[in-house]
Amino acid sequence: MSQATDERLGRIVRLLSDHATVTVSGTKIADEIGTSRSEVWRLVQQLRHLGVDIAGRPATGYQLERIPDLLLPEVLAPMLRGNILGRRIQHFFRITSTNSAAAEAAVGGEPEGTVFLSEEQVSGRGRGRNTWHSPRSTGIYCSVVLRPPLVPADALLLSLVAGLAVVEAVQQVSTNQSDGKHSIHPDLRWPNDVLLNGKKFCGILIELTADQTRVRHAVVGIGINVNQPSFPEDLKQQATSLRLETGLVWSRVELVSALLKSLDLEYRKLKESPADARGAIFRRFEQHSSSARGRKVHVDENGGFEGVTEGLDEHGFLRVRTAQGMRTVLSGGVR
Ligand code: BTN
Repeated sequence: MSQATDERLGRIVRLLSDHATVTVSGTKIADEIGTSRSEVWRLVQQLRHLGVDIAGRPATGYQLERIPDLLLPEVLAPMLRGNILGRRIQHFFRITSTNSAAAEAAVGGEPEGTVFLSEEQVSGRGRGRNTWHSPRSTGIYCSVVLRPPLVPADALLLSLVAGLAVVEAVQQVSTNQSDGKHSIHPDLRWPNDVLLNGKKFCGILIELTADQTRVRHAVVGIGINVNQPSFPEDLKQQATSLRLETGLVWSRVELVSALLKSLDLEYRKLKESPADARGAIFRRFEQHSSSARGRKVHVDENGGFEGVTEGLDEHGFLRVRTAQGMRTVLSGGVR
């Protein structure tokens, strides 16, 4: 695992962003964050090393060359006031996996709503035994600790709402970007891959700790390919990014904030009454999925089988009509 970001770094970035048009003296920064001018210089050097463009020296003061798109708690927290998700935000520049960090913290009693964000993952994990390609500051690597009042049989609802939250956030940010003229419409592939033009730009990994009757905690891990300009050869055929599909550079800060707000809303409804939320979740999932009904698919489960999708059953599992009758897909791998 890695060290959480020194919060003084975030405070310096926040201070310089709030005064982006002027040079801020080393003394002012030192006073604001409660340290010495020489320590400010050391922290500024560290930020530069991490890719933040800051002009200036101790004698002249400092100014941001441009506002960095870093997912710092000091930047995000004010955007998430009142949310369950984001009550506490842990930021890393580099980590093995945000899901591993969140899971470890959850076992140690981390309260519901804590969000783990990293600029880069060196061992990002995907579903099955897959890895998740997580290059620095181009994607969103986010894990949330939840303590949902669900029985283990209903845990799939969490997967479905996480996918819906991504779709809503992407639609919302794309609408804002184009002043409402062009919104993009991501497509959900059961249970929660999110695609654009048939390629995956977001994957979701939910890891549960449960006993027989209830979920103790869940880590909802979301990886979004945002500004990757290209992908390694072995991923090119299946993977894409929002930038590649839209030709635009996206603000990760805006997108992660929209994501945490829409996931917060979805989660509140689910928490209030899982029984009432269920029907609407299934209906909306099917609306946002071109493959949940009437699509010929191959399922990599139980030796593999083929059939035509027929929507979700009462637990949220995918129904597939095969030559031998109706089957239910339990764990994904639908192509
Ligand atoms: C998939 O295989 O589709 C799931 C990918 C999930 C990736 C995210 S990135 C943030 C979190 N941390 C991880 O190690 N994995 C998840």
